[in-house]
Amino acid sequence: MGILYDKQKKTITLHTKNTTYQMQIDRYGFLLHLYYGKRAEGCMDYLLTFYDRGFSGNPYDAGNDKTYSMDSLPQEFPSLGTGDYRNPACIIKNADLTYCSDFRYVSHSIKDGKYALQGLPAVYAADEEAQTLEVVLADSGSGVKAVLLYGVLPKYDIITRSVKLINGNSGRITVKKLAPACLDMVGGEYDFITFYGRHAMERNYQRMPVGHGVSKIGSLRGSSSHQYNPAVILADHETTEDTGSCYAMAFVYSGGFQSEAGRDQYYQTRLMMGLSEEQFAYPLQQGEEFQSPEVIMSYSSEGLSKLSQNLHRCMRTHLCRGKYKEAVRPILLNSWEASYFDFTGESLLKLAGQAVELGIDMFVMDDGWFGERDSEFRGLGDWKVNEKKLGCTLGELIGKINDMGMKFGIWIEPEMVNEDSDLYREHPDWAFVIPGRRPNRSRHQLVLDFSRKEVVDHIFDSICSVLDQGNVEYVKWDMNRSIADVYSATADSQGRVLHDYVLGLYDFLERLVNRYPDILIEGCSGGGGRFDAGMLYYTPQIWCSDNTDAIDRLEIQYGTSFIYPVSSVGAHVSASPNHQTGRITPLKTRGVVAMAGTFGYELDLNELSSAEKDEIREQITQYRKFAKLIQQGLYYRLTNPQTANEGAWEFVSEDRREALVQAVSIKKHANMTVDYIKVRGLEENTIYRETESGKLYNSTVLMESGFPMPIMDGEYQAYQWHFVRED
Ligand code: GLA
Repeated sequence: MGILYDKQKKTITLHTKNTTYQMQIDRYGFLLHLYYGKRAEGCMDYLLTFYDRGFSGNPYDAGNDKTYSMDSLPQEFPSLGTGDYRNPACIIKNADLTYCSDFRYVSHSIKDGKYALQGLPAVYAADEEAQTLEVVLADSGSGVKAVLLYGVLPKYDIITRSVKLINGNSGRITVKKLAPACLDMVGGEYDFITFYGRHAMERNYQRMPVGHGVSKIGSLRGSSSHQYNPAVILADHETTEDTGSCYAMAFVYSGGFQSEAGRDQYYQTRLMMGLSEEQFAYPLQQGEEFQSPEVIMSYSSEGLSKLSQNLHRCMRTHLCRGKYKEAVRPILLNSWEASYFDFTGESLLKLAGQAVELGIDMFVMDDGWFGERDSEFRGLGDWKVNEKKLGCTLGELIGKINDMGMKFGIWIEPEMVNEDSDLYREHPDWAFVIPGRRPNRSRHQLVLDFSRKEVVDHIFDSICSVLDQGNVEYVKWDMNRSIADVYSATADSQGRVLHDYVLGLYDFLERLVNRYPDILIEGCSGGGGRFDAGMLYYTPQIWCSDNTDAIDRLEIQYGTSFIYPVSSVGAHVSASPNHQTGRITPLKTRGVVAMAGTFGYELDLNELSSAEKDEIREQITQYRKFAKLIQQGLYYRLTNPQTANEGAWEFVSEDRREALVQAVSIKKHANMTVDYIKVRGLEENTIYRETESGKLYNSTVLMESGFPMPIMDGEYQAYQWHFVRED
């Protein structure tokens, strides 16, 4: 199986199908990191070097040995106070007000199955698919224990990590910093790949060399954020899509986070992922524990595509849950870009009538259906159906839509409140406002204090009483601002509130998925402001971006694809000119780009010509034909749309029998040179038929020389080639 302990060498080795991870309990009880990389056997402790390094102190136990220093040794869980002057994974303020933690090995155990985390999302697996390693470390000075958890899923090349801190026998301590995943590399030259962005332009790919000093990304917004995504990659300088070493860390958490990559004075690299240190100071009374969220890690020796495919497979099948996780998702029409707040029950029914004629499966009523919500200014918090606006009850509206043969979905934003709402007038202290200060407004709304159970309970009940009014089959869970003014009236420390908020959010979501197991929930935060592995545990799809422009989406979906499966990427065909950019694109292009996601529509169908409606019918037929291949196939990025003349990507079935290549031209010039799109992942030297043209191709040539991009069509054209192996 996956985890082996060598008593003599005191090594613990985690094997997956293609990777190996090794640690060693050294002579003083420190838990050293030895190796993470391509699958290999044996003891790797020869990688450790010991030299007398000036100003790198030595633990007392080392006696006169000046060559032993935590400042230069690779570690599993470096903490402040051992003589390691690099950034630590853990900082604790002890009961005696000191900041030292010196964690040493106490015991370990190996169990079948994957650990679960109370109140937190986590990768899950059947007992025969996974093993768990638990290593108990303790700081004898404070009595604090650190329990390191490693989940190993051999078939998936996935290792997960989480840490539990237990305040054993001291008074109140404060956890100031906690990064459950730390990877110390003794050599190598690396790039730090991160995904930065802003509202409506999320997850842009950035690759920069790890230098001396620390590169740090993160979110101080209380949610994972548009600004940086909580997932990073460390790759060798030479690593490409198909070759070279790379490591991923994806945080299964939806709150503030930070990831640090840095090179130390001895040219060693440390990569970490964990909770944001800002506004974090989590108190633990004697006997209390703190469980960190987990980090999903993967390694590929075959480049970035393989790394992404490992993550995709794991997240799709072992993180997402519910009946939709592997199912082709319903094609939906969302009312937002069709009519924003400006609708009536009648106009919605008219839109739904158009949608059903085109073959769309589900109608989603977006923002504006509750309280006095006719604009951004009011109504959030008042989860009561505005029957006057709808001209009927919600049950009646749903009934009529179901009678047309469509499913019904609804938008909610449970974590928020407008000052102009009955809820705020009744419970002003439920919103984050610091006494004596005026709060920051964002989209004219405040954030509810979800660290308080009574707040979560109240909103949960009012949302349930809406969902119980009819056959709701989909919910879009939105969150339209960043958190500020953190203050909770009932908390014993304000440094715990942001994390407790996320626990409150997860508690709500867990209750929701248990009570409505058949509802498909789509996450959203102004588009992709909370697109993270934590949310995927509850919401198997997430609205990728408020930017529906097909050309901008090429970059957004490109960045997203490094970490997240296509089945999670909410993508819709919207109007042209596009509402966010004003750009004009062909309907075909918008269709092809939205197909590289969960696929749906978000525009006023009443405005379409009959030719456009015919084209949409054809798009829907196409999508249904390829949906399984798209959602479950291996995903390959064929170009980088940030720099290339075109965006191109590909889905290949696991058995390599068929492949769908999609491409969109971005740049146009006169007398244009021809770009060749190199197809990937096919079986070598085999004949494939392109099903549209019927032409036969040798797969090796398709992969070595590529397929010519047409150049003479107009701007932003989309192309699609479907190859099937000739058996
Ligand atoms: C956010 C979402 C949009 C839409 C609006 C409604 O911006 O991302 O899709 O639901 O809220 O207010």
